[in-house]
Amino acid sequence: MSAKYAMISTWKMSLAGMRKAKRLMESGGSARDALAAAITDVEDDPAFHSVGYSGLPNARGEVELDAGFMNGRDLSFGAVSGVKNIQNPILVARELSGLARSCFLTAAGAESYAAAHGFAMRNMLTEDALAAYRREMAKQTAVREADPAADAHDTVCVVAQDTDAELYAGVSTSGLFMKHPGRVGDSPVIGSGFYCDSTAGGAAATGFGEDVMRGCLSVRIVGRIAAGRSPQEACEEVLEAHLARLADAGYTPGNISVIALGRDGRFGAATNRAEFPFVVFDEAREATLMVCRSDGGRIRVEEADAAWLESYKGD
Ligand code: GLY
Repeated sequence: MSAKYAMISTWKMSLAGMRKAKRLMESGGSARDALAAAITDVEDDPAFHSVGYSGLPNARGEVELDAGFMNGRDLSFGAVSGVKNIQNPILVARELSGLARSCFLTAAGAESYAAAHGFAMRNMLTEDALAAYRREMAKQTAVREADPAADAHDTVCVVAQDTDAELYAGVSTSGLFMKHPGRVGDSPVIGSGFYCDSTAGGAAATGFGEDVMRGCLSVRIVGRIAAGRSPQEACEEVLEAHLARLADAGYTPGNISVIALGRDGRFGAATNRAEFPFVVFDEAREATLMVCRSDGGRIRVEEADAAWLESYKGD
């Protein structure tokens, strides 16, 4: 049986936006709009330094943002990468999903599209983010390929399903702190950072983008759901297989966490971190903070309790 509506999102930072999204869906709003409401809430909040306004800058001290959006009914998608000064990259990605071609725009081309189409523009670099950049620069002198701050990085990802069992996926990030200028991670890359197909389910990934892209994780998870696995089984199987393959290939994987939602409203999550918070709601449940834990490769998912909330320091 299908849920009337359901949504899943990454990280505790998405909780306030997911509460807004729940209100929207209760009052008959679409999953497409609820997803945008949840993501713009994080993009606009300067307290979160890995998404949107106040995102941490690249190695030149510039904030470069990536976002992607997909409609699981007609498989349309839109994405922007390396954009500066666009207030809500997710809204531009969503608009681009309406185009048959040129739906993935990068850097200056994406910015000129956004300005010409009336999207809000803003200097996204805040004093806080600049101070973090200066502290990091004081520790080093050269532009790096690899990023030691990768573990502190989080992407907001949302998968949403509504009354007609339509599915949407969206993601937004400022990417790795101190990344090489022009570096693009998995987030705006369809199939890696996000994917959805309304005949099966949707999935999205957060973490070290290069390692996510090596496995095209989101489309693989949706493929498993299409083959009959539950979203939880699909997340666990794909992540476990990918981590084993990365190890075989000689990589020491960075942090990777994934979420998934089936067209029936069932959800799943998996991670290689000790713990990965995410948020779910559906018509019967308020926006609820969950914790996915990896203990020697064994995944456990449960509701966050007061003790966990007290001790958790991340976004
Ligand atoms: N997962 C986002 C990034 O690596 O940029």
